[in-house]
Amino acid sequence: MNHKSESNDTLEKVASLCKRRGFIYQGSEIYGGMSGTWDYAHLGLALKNNIKKLWWKRFVTDRDDMYGTDAAILMNQNVWKASGHVGGFSDPLVECKKCKRRFRADQLENDSSSCPDCGGELSEPKQFNMMFKTHVGVDENESSVSYLRPETAQGMFVNFKNVVDSFHPKLPFGMAQIGKAFRNEIAPRDFTFRSREFEQMEIEYFVEPSKWEESFEHFRKEMWNYIDDVGIDRSKVHELEVSGDSLAHYSKRTIDFEFDYPFGLKELYGLAYRTDFDLKSHTNASGVDLSFLNEETKERFIPHCIEPSLGVDRTVLVVLLDAYCEDEIGGEKRVFLKLSPNVAPVKVAVFPLLKNKPELVEKAREVFGMIRKEIPEAMFDDNGNIGKRYRRQDEIGTPFCVTVDFQTLEDNTVTLRDRDTAKQERVNISELVGKMK
Ligand code: GAP
Repeated sequence: MNHKSESNDTLEKVASLCKRRGFIYQGSEIYGGMSGTWDYAHLGLALKNNIKKLWWKRFVTDRDDMYGTDAAILMNQNVWKASGHVGGFSDPLVECKKCKRRFRADQLENDSSSCPDCGGELSEPKQFNMMFKTHVGVDENESSVSYLRPETAQGMFVNFKNVVDSFHPKLPFGMAQIGKAFRNEIAPRDFTFRSREFEQMEIEYFVEPSKWEESFEHFRKEMWNYIDDVGIDRSKVHELEVSGDSLAHYSKRTIDFEFDYPFGLKELYGLAYRTDFDLKSHTNASGVDLSFLNEETKERFIPHCIEPSLGVDRTVLVVLLDAYCEDEIGGEKRVFLKLSPNVAPVKVAVFPLLKNKPELVEKAREVFGMIRKEIPEAMFDDNGNIGKRYRRQDEIGTPFCVTVDFQTLEDNTVTLRDRDTAKQERVNISELVGKMK
C-alpha cells in the first residue's frame, strides 16, 4: 500500500467510527444521502459544542473588546453585490465531455485536460458561483432574490454602525460570530472537509489603518493558542503565506493555517487583512456612512479589518483525525481517540462491575451522582460486559473510567482507569474528582 492510500485509510476509519459511535452521519442517509451535508449526532454535537465554547471563551468572554453577533442567514441581496460575492465568489468548473462528471479545474492533478475518472476530454473551465440562490416571499423575480450566506463575516460588517451606536467602543474592537455558512461546492469531498453547509467562527477586528500589523500578529498568536486549547498537535499545522492570484478579492495579506490531513496539506483556518474593503464597499452601496470618529483627534476614517476565520467542522475533523489511535492491549487490537479532556464529549464514565448485582449498581449510581455534580459531562454505563464498556469509552475518547466493584462496598475505593495507558489504580471516592481534575 502506498503512503497516500494508507493515510486515506485513517479518514475512512474515522468516518466509520463517527457513524458507528454516534458522532456524525451522512445527511439524508435513508434517501441515499445528500452530498456535502452531514448530521451531527449526540457525541459529535457535544464535541462541536465544546469546540465552540472554547473559541467563544478565548476570543469573546476572556476579552473586553469583543461584541458578540448572531445575524440572520438571509440578507438583502445588495449585501452580496457590495461584498463582491455576486460578481466574484466562484470556482472554475470543468465538465467531462464523455461521462459528464464535473470537477473543479484548480483541483485536478497534473494533466487537467482529461477526466480523472474516464480519461475523456474536459471542457474549457467556466466560472461557477458558489452561492445558493433562493427567493424570499411569494414572487420569484429579480427583486426577491436572496442567498444563503457563504460567510458569516458580512452579517458583522452590515451591523458595524449599530454596534458603534449601541456600545460606543474605542478602536481597536471586534465583532464575533459563530454560525452557519453555505457554499455550493462543485466537488464536496474528504468526509466533512469540504461541505456545502458548515459552521464558521469569525471575528472582524476593526483597527486604525496604521496599526493593522500588530493586531494581525496578535491574532496569529491567538489562533495558535486556540489550536492548543482544542488539543491539536501543533507540529501538524503549518502556516502558508497566501500570495498572488490565491489571495481573496478583499485581502491584502492572508495566512492560511494548514493541517497535514491524510489527503494532503490543506487549509484549516485563515487569517486575513481585509483592509477597509468591506466597510467602504457597504458605505458606497448603501449610502450609510460606516466611518469612525476618533474622539481625541476628531478625525473620521474607515477602520481597517483583521479577520481570523475558523471552521467549526474542520476543527471537529482535525481534532478527530489527530486523536485517532490504534494500539494493542493484552494481545488485542484497540482503537481509541486521544482527545484532549477540554473537548472530549464524555469526560468520565462510571460503571458497576456487574450489572446484575443491585448493590453494585446502587453504589455506582451514587458515585455517578457525586461526580456529575462536579463534572457534568459524565456518563453512567452498564451496557454489556466491562471489557466492551472500556472499548466503547476508548473509542469515543473518554479520558477516565471509574468502576465500582465489591471492594468498593468494603473500603469506599474504586478503580480509576486512564484511557491512554489503560492502567488502573485504586482511588478513594473522596479523592476521585480532585484526581481527575
Ligand atoms: N470570511 C472569510 C472566509 O469565509 P474562507 O477561507 O473561505 O474565508 C474560512 O473560509 C474557513 O471556513 C476555512 O478556513 C475553513 O475552516 C472553513 N470552510 C470554508 N469552506 C468550507 C467548506 N466547504 N466546508 C467546511 N469548512 C469550510
